Amino acid sequence: MIAKTKIWLSSPHMGGTEQQYVQEAFDSNWIAPLGPNVSAFEHSLENYVGGDMFAAALSSGTAAIHLGLKILGVSRGDEVLCQSFTFSASANPIVYLGATPVFIDSETDTWNISPELLEKAIKDRLAKGKKPKAIIAVHLYGMPYKADEIRALSEKYDIPVLEDSAEALGSTYKGQKCGSLGDLSILSFNGNKIITTSGGGALLTRDQKQKEKAVFLATQARDEAPHYQHSEIGHNYRMSNVLAGIGRGQMEVLDERVAARRSNYAYYKDAFQDITDITFQKEHPDFYANRWLSCILTPSYQVREQIRLALAEQDIESRPLWKPMHLQPVFQDALHFSDGTSEKLFDTGLCLPSGSNLREEDLELVAYHVKKALV
Ligand SMILES: Cc1ncc(COP(=O)(O)O)c(C=O)c1O
Repeated sequence: MIAKTKIWLSSPHMGGTEQQYVQEAFDSNWIAPLGPNVSAFEHSLENYVGGDMFAAALSSGTAAIHLGLKILGVSRGDEVLCQSFTFSASANPIVYLGATPVFIDSETDTWNISPELLEKAIKDRLAKGKKPKAIIAVHLYGMPYKADEIRALSEKYDIPVLEDSAEALGSTYKGQKCGSLGDLSILSFNGNKIITTSGGGALLTRDQKQKEKAVFLATQARDEAPHYQHSEIGHNYRMSNVLAGIGRGQMEVLDERVAARRSNYAYYKDAFQDITDITFQKEHPDFYANRWLSCILTPSYQVREQIRLALAEQDIESRPLWKPMHLQPVFQDALHFSDGTSEKLFDTGLCLPSGSNLREEDLELVAYHVKKALV
């Protein structure tokens, strides 16, 4: 059994109505970074995420983190505590602002920021007279972080949380949607995400003023004046009305996409139930993960590579789990509080094809070749 066409890790999956909204943008000539699709997309995000959040549609999730940190007052010389086990986009905006990341390792249940190590880091930084300006916590692969524990530390030490929900639209924590758990939250609609606008993101805020500030900064920080006047440095980060049309269509199928990704995960779990070399992350009843990517754990780096290379030979895309930020050459000098958890996950974990558009025969083929690689 060889895949006739490449099986991708996570490819875009249109629902059908996206083109109609894009057509509306063309028909009304709203080919601009504002317009009815942007407002409607923002409203559908607000309704979906709930928690009285306000959404600002932006050009990427990275832009949303950048503006979010700015709104939290992060600036040159500050320190920001950031989950180490994540994609570099969680941490890069800290550096754009001239601030310094301090990386925190994960805990083994959710693979997300460890409350123990976070508190250890906060105490250490306070003892050295450097109160961190913000905490970036990430729902990696769509599994919610331990929001109550992180919130408690945030309140105890008075440090705001920026919730990186780029991978977790559709996940919930104790019944609350991811994207409504931070002081500020971000989403990504990059091409590989659970829904996509080809490229895009959103900042979710707790009040209207913060949203207005985000939109102001995202549209070159123009002061109220008939001419172009600027008292602050701005950015060109707003989402275009054309792409927001794709987002509107995608929101109509979001719940189906979550169900399909969770069903991929269930398929793999079932297919590998008798294989001792493959284990899965547990899901606590309070946590509902969108299973953006289906991840497996193997006993060693060698076994992980054995599977990855066997799949690649069949034109089946798989990928090691994220390489922690504290192991990245670009962050080699960064301070980190780690206990080896994310390093081990990186060494032994693999993301399997997880798109909501995978067919049963694709999943069968992936499972077949994974098992074959282990014989
Ligand atoms: C955890 C995480 N944070 C941030 C981002 C950045 O989002 P974007 O690609 O839309 O800039 C991504 C995805 O790309 C991500 O996976």
